[in-house]
Formats: sequence, structure tokens, C-alpha cells
Amino acid sequence: MHKVSIIGAGVVGTAIGYLLKQVGYSIVGIASKTIESARKAKEFIGSGITSTDLGATARKADIVFITTSDRAIEVACNKIASDKGFKRGTVVFHTCGALSSEVLRSARNNGAKTASLHPLQSLANVNEAVKNLHGSYFCIEGDEDALIVAREIIAALKGKEITLRVDKKPLYHAGASVASNFLVATVGFGLELFEAAGINRQDALNALMPLIKGTVKNIEAIGIPLALTGPISRGDTTVVEDHLKAISKEKNGLINLYSELGRYTVKVAIEKGTLNDKAAQRIRSLLNKYGKGLC
Ligand SMILES: NC(=O)c1ccc[n+]([C@@H]2O[C@H](COP(=O)([O-])OP(=O)(O)OC[C@H]3O[C@@H](n4cnc5c(N)ncnc54)[C@H](OP(=O)(O)O)[C@@H]3O)[C@@H](O)[C@H]2O)c1
Repeated sequence: MHKVSIIGAGVVGTAIGYLLKQVGYSIVGIASKTIESARKAKEFIGSGITSTDLGATARKADIVFITTSDRAIEVACNKIASDKGFKRGTVVFHTCGALSSEVLRSARNNGAKTASLHPLQSLANVNEAVKNLHGSYFCIEGDEDALIVAREIIAALKGKEITLRVDKKPLYHAGASVASNFLVATVGFGLELFEAAGINRQDALNALMPLIKGTVKNIEAIGIPLALTGPISRGDTTVVEDHLKAISKEKNGLINLYSELGRYTVKVAIEKGTLNDKAAQRIRSLLNKYGKGLC
């Protein structure tokens, strides 16, 4: 049975600790900046000695998860290394999507095997995280020995693996942020337009949810570009111009955003094959005219 310590008792650390315990790993230590967070995580996970001493907590384990906020990963790793918390052969993971395993170099210099193990999932709170993490994709990169352990963990969590070259991590993470965080922001943009039309925010969200879920289902079933529908996909310049006029009148601060997203949508519609070059050019001209604030 592998002994695991969690360093950084937030959403991801608590959820990973809980799920690993469920599949037979032994959670021996939980350390965080504050003892309150470590205790809260222990209550959820159901085992582990809690502490604010990162080095002593790491020393108990064969597998160390550094699940602090991104900025603190390297600092926490250096602190553990200087306190001799890594034994030869300890496997050390961080779960950040934007940083490579290079930030764990102080652990590697102390004989540990290091890798990044990024769950490609939106984890807003611990309860949702334990539901969503199961079966997710995990992006891994790092030392071969650590990757073997990462693959065992992914298999135990019924996840799937993505492997990446170290230098491609920022692009991969940008892609994940666009598809997840910008999706939330885009729905927020839609809500703002509904509110400007006089619909209250909660009613607007209730009304949009079936549409959003239907769209996500279409993306899953037939992919992109085929899932694209709507006036740009159909080449309906009149409707697009009506949108632009209404937004520039009522919500002018959002016109550039509409135009920029519209330009990308034109590209998708051309790929889908439902927008010919002439109609695409007409829509682009409209988007440029309003988007540059000329009206
Ligand atoms: N949330 C997501 O959707 C998601 C998805 C994939 C990957 N990730 C990655 O997972 C990691 C953790 O994210 P999270 O969402 O779990 O963040 P979080 O909920 O904010 O938790 C971070 C924890 O780190 C602890 N911490 C901060 N500085 C520390 C230090 N110097 N020493 C010890 N502990 C420290 C904090 O402890 P205290 O509470 O004690 O102050 C906090 O509980 C990040 O690398 C993030 O990029 C997150």
C-alpha cells in the first residue's frame, strides 16, 4: 500500500486525498499553510496526521502531492527539500496545468522522482471535485519513474492520460482555460444581454441552461465545426447586423467582444461548409465596422 502525503489542503489536495484513500492508498499526512485547512481536509478524507510542518509531513510518505496554489509550489518544494523531507525514490507530483515538473527540481536534486499530474477538470469545491475527478483526463509530464506511478493513480481513478512535451504545457493550459473558463465568461456575456433585454439574471440562467446543455451534447456527439448553429453559420447578415445595432445601442462596452467572437465563429462556419466566401466577407465587414466602434 502506497503512503501518500498531501501538501496544500485546498480543493484539489482534499479531493485527491479522498479519492486515493477510496482506491486503497494510505493517506499518512496532510500539511497546509494553516492547521485549520489541514484539519478540515482530514475530516473529509478520513485519515492523515495534520500539521503545518511540510518537511515532516512529506517525510512520512512514498508519494507526495504538492497541491498548494501555483505560486507556492516551488516555495513549498524548496522548503521540504531543505528540511530533508524527500527520501531517495520518493515520488513527488504537483497538479498545476500551467507549470512543468521543472518547478520540483529541488526534490529531484534530493533523489526524488518528479512529475506534474494535472487533472483536466474544473474543480470548484471539494464535493463537486470528488464527483468530477473520477474518469477525467490527466495530463502528465516528468521523470519516467514518476510517470509509472502517475499511470497507476490514473488507472485507479478510472481516468485517462494525456502526455505532453514540457515546453507545450503553457499552450495546453491556455486551451483548457479557453474551453472552460472562457465558456463561463461567455455564458456571463449572454446573461448580461438577457438582463439588458429585461429578463432577470436567475430567469435568464434557467432559460439558457437547456440551450447550453443541448449545445454541449451536440459538441460531444458530432464535434466542432458540425455543432455550430445560428445566424453566422447560416450566413444571415440581417440578423447579425440587428445584433450589432442592438448591442452598440444598449451595451456598447460589449461590442468588441461580440465582434471578436463573431470573427472566430465565421472561421468555424467556413470549416463547417455552411458559409460561403462571399457571405463570410459580408459578415466580417459588419463585425469590423461595429467592432471598431465606427457606429
Ligand atoms: N481548482 C481547479 O479547478 C484545479 C484544476 C486542476 C488543477 N488545479 C491545480 O491544483 C492546485 C491546487 O488548486 P486548488 O484549486 O486546490 O487551490 P486552493 O483550493 O486555493 O488550495 C490551495 C491550498 O494551498 C495551501 N497553500 C498555499 N500556500 C501554501 C504554502 N506556502 N504552504 C502550504 N500550503 C499552502 C492553502 O492553504 P491554507 O488553506 O492553509 O492557506 C490552500 O488550502 C493548483 O496548482 C491548481 O492550479 C486546480
